[in-house]
Amino acid sequence: MRATRRSLLIGGAALAGGAFAGGYGIFAQSARQGGGPLPMPRLVDTWDNGGIFDLSIQQGETRIVPAAATRSFGYSGSILGPVVRVRSGQTVKAYITNNLPVESSVHWHGLFVPSIVDGPFNPIPAGQSWSPELTIDQPAATTWFHPHPHGDTARQTYMGLAGLLYVEDGSAAEFNLPRDYGVDDLPIVLQDRIFGPDGQLIYDRSPMAMMHGSRGDVILVNGAIRPTARPPAGLVRLRLLDGANARNFKLAFADERIFHVIANDAGWLAEPIPLKEIEISPGERYEIVVDLSDGRAVDLLTWPDHNGRFGDSLTERAKEFAARMRERREVVLRLEPGAAGDRPKRDLPRRLQDPGRPDVAKSVRRRSFTFDSMMMANMQMMRGGGAMGHAGHGSPTTSSAPTGHGASGGMRMGINGKTYDMSRIDAEVALGSHEIWEVVSTEMAHPFHIHGATFRTLTKGGKPVAPHEAGVKDTVLVDNKAELLVSFRQPSTREKPFVFHCHILEHEELGMMGTYLSQPSA
Ligand code: C2O
Ligand code: CU
Ligand code: CU
Repeated sequence: MRATRRSLLIGGAALAGGAFAGGYGIFAQSARQGGGPLPMPRLVDTWDNGGIFDLSIQQGETRIVPAAATRSFGYSGSILGPVVRVRSGQTVKAYITNNLPVESSVHWHGLFVPSIVDGPFNPIPAGQSWSPELTIDQPAATTWFHPHPHGDTARQTYMGLAGLLYVEDGSAAEFNLPRDYGVDDLPIVLQDRIFGPDGQLIYDRSPMAMMHGSRGDVILVNGAIRPTARPPAGLVRLRLLDGANARNFKLAFADERIFHVIANDAGWLAEPIPLKEIEISPGERYEIVVDLSDGRAVDLLTWPDHNGRFGDSLTERAKEFAARMRERREVVLRLEPGAAGDRPKRDLPRRLQDPGRPDVAKSVRRRSFTFDSMMMANMQMMRGGGAMGHAGHGSPTTSSAPTGHGASGGMRMGINGKTYDMSRIDAEVALGSHEIWEVVSTEMAHPFHIHGATFRTLTKGGKPVAPHEAGVKDTVLVDNKAELLVSFRQPSTREKPFVFHCHILEHEELGMMGTYLSQPSA
């Protein structure tokens, strides 16, 4: 048994290093065990805690695969982080200590806070602390925090650094939604990883992985493989976060049951939106409610993600293989409802909180940003034996702990032809103003994300946005083109500007990121 599993894994790893990085999933399947209970992060309620919370950025070991404990990073734990709960109107103080041997930083993705208390330009050197004060000034939302040290964001996140932060304002009770943490209100952090035969994480740095974003063949939910949740029968709320470096997740229930989307990134939708299938991209959050009152167990499934993976350069055999892969569904999470007990029966609310129609008349200017993978130049670089020319074959990494920075060789990506430069300001906006940003994706779909601002998506691919994406957001998957009405909510400075970037973390690090200054207009 063991020998087989091992050789299958090696076969998979060899494929992963080659140009066709899509196929290794099925080879590694026998190595996926999982099936344990859904890990439930510790809940830290800052209300009970006198408005403070601590995070220790640290290394640890986590049991994920049978082979061995996996070396990983976590916030105050061996992997991921606690769920931090804050309330609108509250001022909280975070005490963060970096116990890693390298610099890190913490970005509050989705929190409306000024750049001076946000991650990217507040590095925390190894062994040092940082204590930002955060004034919570937004409606209920599922936000998250993750590292943002330029050049090492992707690796640190891959190693396990990501946590959820819930903003609450009493509206969930008003709508009579499930809100019992860990019981009928479950955090669901979706990620993908590659494990070596020794049980350690492998971070794929092959040129192909850099180009399309680094993916893995093993899906984790809250750091576990194919876990089972046992909520009471009734309505169950799942707070979905795509915390992967690059992978989009298309999700549906095995019996094709309908679920309702109640919130997207920055808050409630106007009303629950019924869907059978949803796609989530890196950095995005959706809250869904699924009805388990029939008491039947059901699996949440996903499909392989093909964003940017299968270009024309593939051989016929690889294309065929890719087509077969497209059909392959796999179980992400199992829901096994228990007895309802004496819990009151809940109905889905008819209305939630209407964010109103986006008022385009408010826009004071239009800008256009083209996400440029610089694919041709990068391919040439690879073929011409540039710095990355040889690195992709054989082992794409680092097994013990992915180390080193960027490792981008000569590869570059950018926005409007410019590679990220922290000392350059790419846009100056008036704090409190609105602008229409047209974001254009080339070669593949890119998840656009902006700090310090939110937006309403006006169109995607030239069409009106789907109702479940029509709320207030901070991240959107742009395939072809999207028009966004951006609302600049928070101030930034020249020394600490806000950034906007592709949330495929490898793209961000290769330079697909820009800066903006947001200040009151004179
Ligand atoms: Cu979630 Cu700038 O990132
Ligand atoms: Cu962010
Ligand atoms: Cu991208």
